[in-house]
Amino acid sequence: MSAETPVCQLLERQDVDYRGWLWVAPPRDGWLEGGEGRLLAADQTVLSAWRARGRPAGSPFEADMPTPPGVVLFWPKAHALGEWWLLWLCAHLPAGTPLQVVGENQGGIKRVLKVLAALGLGCRKVDSARRCTLFASRLDRVGLDPEAAWTSFEAEGLRLASHPGVFGHGKLDEGTRLLLSWLPGVLPETGRVLDMGCGDGILAAWLARRGLAITAVDVNGFAVEATRRSLAANALDGEVRAGDVFAGLEGRRFDAIVSNPPFHQERAVDYGPAGRLIREAPKHLVPGGRLVLVANAFLPYPDLLEQAFGGFEILADDRRFRVYSART
Ligand SMILES: C[S@@+](CC[C@H](N)C(=O)[O-])C[C@H]1O[C@@H](n2cnc3c(N)ncnc32)[C@H](O)[C@@H]1O
Repeated sequence: MSAETPVCQLLERQDVDYRGWLWVAPPRDGWLEGGEGRLLAADQTVLSAWRARGRPAGSPFEADMPTPPGVVLFWPKAHALGEWWLLWLCAHLPAGTPLQVVGENQGGIKRVLKVLAALGLGCRKVDSARRCTLFASRLDRVGLDPEAAWTSFEAEGLRLASHPGVFGHGKLDEGTRLLLSWLPGVLPETGRVLDMGCGDGILAAWLARRGLAITAVDVNGFAVEATRRSLAANALDGEVRAGDVFAGLEGRRFDAIVSNPPFHQERAVDYGPAGRLIREAPKHLVPGGRLVLVANAFLPYPDLLEQAFGGFEILADDRRFRVYSART
């Protein structure tokens, strides 16, 4: 199969034997998924797609993997996250391992030169085409701990963990703040609540502090880890899982589902996950259970809520954000 994404098309034309190489944080691409490399990623949709094909795939939060002959890092939109991946690779793989870094010019890949230089890693440009550039270097011990990227902040009397690439990165979102101000009036005193798209775990921790049994889900492995750390920092319990919306929650029902749902995927607007959340919520709620959402007022959720639940209420509307509630 030919490469589908511009970054992979650039890699495909290289005269390099990539067999056994580690692809780090790549996009979905049939050329990679049908090839002979291994995956290291934090995105559950990419991990699940590889595992479904029986391909070797792991996340940085699992046990160490076999040493690869080389590594390709797909530079992410968030530069701080790209820097974290570099530090992680330098800390976990042998010095001297060939490293390539590829990314879209529009996504700021050229900054990688400076980032690698600051780490004392030499670098040369290998190729550029399809509005993408490929650099080559080698991993080395750089004496910086990737753990230092984890920070924390206070919001709503809770200590929350933060990491590059996790939504909000170090501050409480205004939509989430509005949602929290309306939750006490509509949620049960006890019961099981699902926090869908948990990010740094603000909703999960807030709900757990009220004594609710929480399950928190996010597609982003860094968000899952952040939520685990946020719960632990406040001595709270909860189930935290990596997942693409309801995948893995088949047959499970909750007394309520709360969410500030995503509507972006990288730079593109994407209502897919929020649409699936609303459409599939009724079969994950007990009779009389409630979905409570906050969303930018312009997002097309009223129609989706009407179709899925046959009706809904607007609990709050500050012109920027709306809080919706719908019951089974
Ligand atoms: C707007 S943020 C809300 C984060 C947090 N709940 C808050 O209120 O600050 C949406 C979250 O949904 C997650 N997300 C995106 N796509 C998802 C999917 N397909 N399944 C589950 N979570 C997803 C994102 O990683 C992000 O953490």
